[in-house]
Amino acid sequence: GAAARDGDPRRGGPADSPFVRACRREPVPHTPVWFMRQAGRSLPEYREIRANVAMLESCRRPELVAEITLQPVRRHGVDAAILFSDIVVPVAAAGVDLDIVAGTGPVVAEPVRTAEDLERIRPITRDDVSYVDEAVRLLVAELGDTPLIGFAGAPFTLASYLVEGGPSRTHAKTKALMYGEPELWHALCGRLAEVTLAFLRVQVDAGVSAVQLFDSWAGALSEADYRRYVLPHSAAVLSGLADAGVPRIHFGVGTGELLGAMGEAGTDVVGVDWRTPLDAATRRIGPDKAVQGNLDPCLLLAPWPVVEAEVRRILDQGRAAPGHVFNLGHGVLPETDPDVLTRVVALVHDLSARPVEQ
Ligand code: CP3
Repeated sequence: GAAARDGDPRRGGPADSPFVRACRREPVPHTPVWFMRQAGRSLPEYREIRANVAMLESCRRPELVAEITLQPVRRHGVDAAILFSDIVVPVAAAGVDLDIVAGTGPVVAEPVRTAEDLERIRPITRDDVSYVDEAVRLLVAELGDTPLIGFAGAPFTLASYLVEGGPSRTHAKTKALMYGEPELWHALCGRLAEVTLAFLRVQVDAGVSAVQLFDSWAGALSEADYRRYVLPHSAAVLSGLADAGVPRIHFGVGTGELLGAMGEAGTDVVGVDWRTPLDAATRRIGPDKAVQGNLDPCLLLAPWPVVEAEVRRILDQGRAAPGHVFNLGHGVLPETDPDVLTRVVALVHDLSARPVEQ
């Protein structure tokens, strides 16, 4: 466009991609689309390359991280790559003994439940996660105009794994600590917010084009408790990146009642799961933020005409928002046929294509 010819340094490259433009609520040539957990077990090429490497180990090998991150970009033509890593990577780097067990998820050797336990979560610097810095740099060089999304887990979701010792349906021990020992709770979340902010800064400094804060399990809380026990800590992370110059995305599952509060934590985009239609979500979030979502991951297992109708509905409802990034409402399920993901990308691009005014 004209701006590129004028040499505006912000024009062209990933910062001018449809994905980043949609996050910033700027006009786009088509609705951008990527999928949470796009780099993972639905892809045979992923399963092959991971066959003999443990999950955490794979996150610490920059060349492997780069290859796995690129796989879904090559295969599906998505509008953004997301760094291959996991939300517990910075917590492990901070000193917590944990592992990611196939089919289960993160498992913490000694759960964090007392003030003494907090000492096992140390601040991190770039040197503690140099493999992430290197992986991002490799990827930015490789990706050209395609933006790379960096990410981290939010304090509540990380705290849940640390306090429970592993995945939990009810988050009962986490909530017991939160209600029963609020000072300890705030100290724990404060530490996790520091680790998370430092981890995201490493990714921003290495060149990611956007960051997503995953508070996957925040939907377990009422709005009042979310505001009291969680929002200040997520806001510390997000506001700490206000001057980073990249869009921030704030996502959780089952957060229909929390969408307004999650927007207030300081973000450019709010991620929405499939339970809340995007037009209703936009009314709750307000006109100054874009939305991301929100196809039910299970719908990808349905016959194609059903998928197509749902993609149309979501694009229609997304027009109510000042910016829309198409995505699932949560991560890709391992049993998903990757060809369906590829077809969804093409369909989103076709249905949303529009001439850009010059
Ligand atoms: O999105 C991507 O493609 C990037 C990779 C990514 C992974 N984890 C790799 C992974 C991302 C963004 C995550 C984030 C993550 N990890 C979240 C937030 C998003 C969400 O799904 O809510 C959470 C809660 C975790 C914790 C976690 N890690 C769980 C619950 C599990 C087990 C479930 C599962 O899918 O197996 C993991 C393991 C994990 N993280 C795998 C991958 C590819 C599977 C491990 C394997 O392949 O052996």
